[in-house]
Amino acid sequence: MAQGVLLHLENITKRFPGVLALDKVNLEIRAGEVHGLVGENGAGKSTIIKTITGAHRPDEGNIYFRGEKLETITPHYSMSLGIACIYQELNQVPHMTVAENIYLGREKLKVKPLGILNREKMKENSRSVLASLGLDIDPQVNAGALGVGKQQMIEIARAVQSDARLIIMDEPTASLSAKESEELLRIIHYLKGKGVAIIYISHRLDEVKAVCERITVLRDGRTIETVDAKDLSIDDMVKKMVGRDITHKYPKVKTPPGKEMLRVERLTRKGVFKNVTFTVRAGEVVGMAGLVGAGRTEVVRAITGADPLDSGSIFVEGREVRIRNPRDSIKAGIAFLTEDRKGQGLILIQDIEFNSTIVNLKNYAGNFFLKLGRARTDAERMVQELRTRTPGVDVPAGNLSGGNQQKVVIAKWLLTKSKIFIIDEPTRGIDVGAKVEVYNLINQLVQNGAAVIMISSEMDECIGMSDRIIVMHEGNITAELAGSKISNENVMYAASGIAVN
Ligand SMILES: Nc1ncnc2c1ncn2[C@@H]1O[C@H](COP(=O)(O)OP(=O)(O)OP(=O)(O)O)[C@@H](O)[C@H]1O
Ligand SMILES: [Mg+2]
Repeated sequence: MAQGVLLHLENITKRFPGVLALDKVNLEIRAGEVHGLVGENGAGKSTIIKTITGAHRPDEGNIYFRGEKLETITPHYSMSLGIACIYQELNQVPHMTVAENIYLGREKLKVKPLGILNREKMKENSRSVLASLGLDIDPQVNAGALGVGKQQMIEIARAVQSDARLIIMDEPTASLSAKESEELLRIIHYLKGKGVAIIYISHRLDEVKAVCERITVLRDGRTIETVDAKDLSIDDMVKKMVGRDITHKYPKVKTPPGKEMLRVERLTRKGVFKNVTFTVRAGEVVGMAGLVGAGRTEVVRAITGADPLDSGSIFVEGREVRIRNPRDSIKAGIAFLTEDRKGQGLILIQDIEFNSTIVNLKNYAGNFFLKLGRARTDAERMVQELRTRTPGVDVPAGNLSGGNQQKVVIAKWLLTKSKIFIIDEPTRGIDVGAKVEVYNLINQLVQNGAAVIMISSEMDECIGMSDRIIVMHEGNITAELAGSKISNENVMYAASGIAVN
């Protein structure tokens, strides 16, 4: 065993029905290092983590911790070794306080008889852990009242509070704002300074390169290579991940704009957004840029009837429409792909075919067998186009990797016969190769005469794929950029509320 190796996975193999998820994986994590784990959706990243935390039992191979071979790993055993994991999906109990969440599942508290005293102590300890991480979070508020970013920080506080020696972060920044991501990276440096080892999984490859010392690339359940981050360019990382070059990151196809498809006028929701007016034409992709919290999601939620409006009008193809709920929106021809795909996207126990075709059952009307056949063909076509990694469309959505679940939600909306598509953060959690497939599908939509509104917090994506960009700041549109006006600087200025000429 090399010096300072904390965790060693040796020839780990894990099979699921029809899937070889891990194929003789080898991985060495050194004490106090930040180790990146990258690979396409379905490459096996989360499965590796789950074998370490005892959520899955490997079929073959050995796991060593500080040189000692571990026999059967249970979640409890893994925790007692000082391994903590921050999962891809948030795990806060929303109606419990921050302090209670930090102490969740740590039974030593339960055996103490004096509940009240413990509560005080919990609060105090939580406060000092949060402070040591430089976090301004009140341990007494309910976790559910905090934004996603803060909830993520609570998970880290929980790990630190339990004296973890290895903290695993599975896509921790996928839904964080730029500022929150920076804060997280700062905390990672702090933890590293304290000798904590970190496994960092992310599809944001620039972040992985910046924060990790070593990076292991995974492909098709196999560990391809472990290299020093400084010796691996992002292009090489991509090549090793997907096994091919990706030449066009943003394969934008210009389509001549047609008639006006959607017009909104002076949309207002008190205290949230004000006098929002814009139009989208057939063949156009209109990007919505802004900082997280600028009101973009709120505006499109109101347009699609998910939230109420105080005033303003909505016109579809020139005719005013009333949209009181999401059903009205679908009827008016507006499809909304929400950013909250976990909450609103999928029925996990149902298979891919069902999930892909459920919103448009009426498209499959007619002869029962014919209908089933078409639904299946459509679902299969989407699996192919989006390169969803699955043995077939009969697989329950819950069995797919995080990114592949997202692809099913995208498929579901793309299969609607809508003419107006509102897509909120379309490529979040999706690997580099699949991003290009999503962009190609957006191209296809506009080429077929659809109008697309795309909210994106990734500046390059927004600039690379939009014909026009609307920028919001604190509930107001601060700029509408087109042609040569579209630039990084202009978007940033407008997003921080500075006028752009
Ligand atoms: N419980 C399960 N049952 C069946 N198959 C599973 C299960 N969990 C994972 N798989 C399969 O194992 C493979 C690896 O999945 P895993 O979740 O590890 O991917 P990942 O690298 O984390 O991807 P992502 O970037 O999308 O999160 C995938 O093909 C997935 O469908
Ligand atoms: Mg995963």
